[in-house]
Amino acid sequence: MTSSDRMIVVTGGTSGLGYECAKDLARDPRNTVVITGRDASRTRDMAARIGAHGMALDLSSRASVGAFVTELVAADRPPLFGLVCNAGVQFTRRTLTADGMEATFATNHLGHLGLITDLLDHFTAPARIILVSSGTHDPDQFTGMPHPLDDTARDLAYPPSPSESAQRDARRRYTTSKLANVRTAYYLARELAPRGITVNAFDPGLMPGTGLARDASAFQRIAWRTIARALVVLPSVRTPRASGADLAWLVAAPDREGMTGQYLVRRAPARSSAASCDEPAQQALYRDSVELLAELDARAGR
Ligand SMILES: NC(=O)c1ccc[n+]([C@@H]2O[C@H](COP(=O)([O-])OP(=O)(O)OC[C@H]3O[C@@H](n4cnc5c(N)ncnc54)[C@H](OP(=O)(O)O)[C@@H]3O)[C@@H](O)[C@H]2O)c1
Repeated sequence: MTSSDRMIVVTGGTSGLGYECAKDLARDPRNTVVITGRDASRTRDMAARIGAHGMALDLSSRASVGAFVTELVAADRPPLFGLVCNAGVQFTRRTLTADGMEATFATNHLGHLGLITDLLDHFTAPARIILVSSGTHDPDQFTGMPHPLDDTARDLAYPPSPSESAQRDARRRYTTSKLANVRTAYYLARELAPRGITVNAFDPGLMPGTGLARDASAFQRIAWRTIARALVVLPSVRTPRASGADLAWLVAAPDREGMTGQYLVRRAPARSSAASCDEPAQQALYRDSVELLAELDARAGR
């Protein structure tokens, strides 16, 4: 690993899509790969299996993001080339973080945005950021998931009590966070172009069998592992292995240099939802999210 010339960080690299992506990246001796997970010892074990480094990171905690960045930049590793914002959660009921925020928004969107902003000065251009989104952000794709909300970032962080079933509300929080991922990718692509950092969103397709359903009922988890896996013949259904290979290729392939502001399906640009392309909404989400992060930092005396 000492002969590698660039570092690529994959959040949520302990299972599913992130693990498969990191495994592919770590096969290339030019890459030093860092995977993250909430439990330090488990993350180190998973990293050791694929020749990567494992570090603890809980994206739902601003303090954990800060500690991770401090440790990452202090380590003697090659320049930061890539960041794959892959970690994600989907709950079945309203869940709050220790900071009191709705946990899907805090983890899938705000945690990653805080990570990106904290790492910005540590990238060495040309560099790449990919945010893992989902086709469920787009109502036109008829995924069966509730349509995303268009609320302000503050209302998404501190929402009122659910006005629909707890499960439906939690699923809507998920699709909303995935819309936030695409909006953030488009906004940052424009902002970071002058720094030589590209930013894209990636839709891995439906990948039955990953840990994403860990919060679901026993019956739903069995269905996720068995019935849903049988759907793999459909074009929008993929294995974590196949999508992980696509994601690794997109973050590392030399001929993808300069590609930015795209919503990527498999290895090519595709159309994202109309709401994701709304530039004022992208700007407002970014502005309000940065404000929320500043409030968390102030509360923690950072
Ligand atoms: N599976 C699908 O059908 C599907 C479809 C479209 C998009 N996606 C997206 O693909 C990405 C990967 O999902 P997956 O299906 O591979 O799920 P997964 O197997 O559950 O992997 C999720 C990863 O996120 C990490 N994680 C969970 N909570 C975290 C937190 N608070 N802070 C930091 N890391 C956390 C987990 O690590 P630890 O548990 O070790 O902390 C794990 O490595 C997600 O962004 C998801 O939205 C999935």
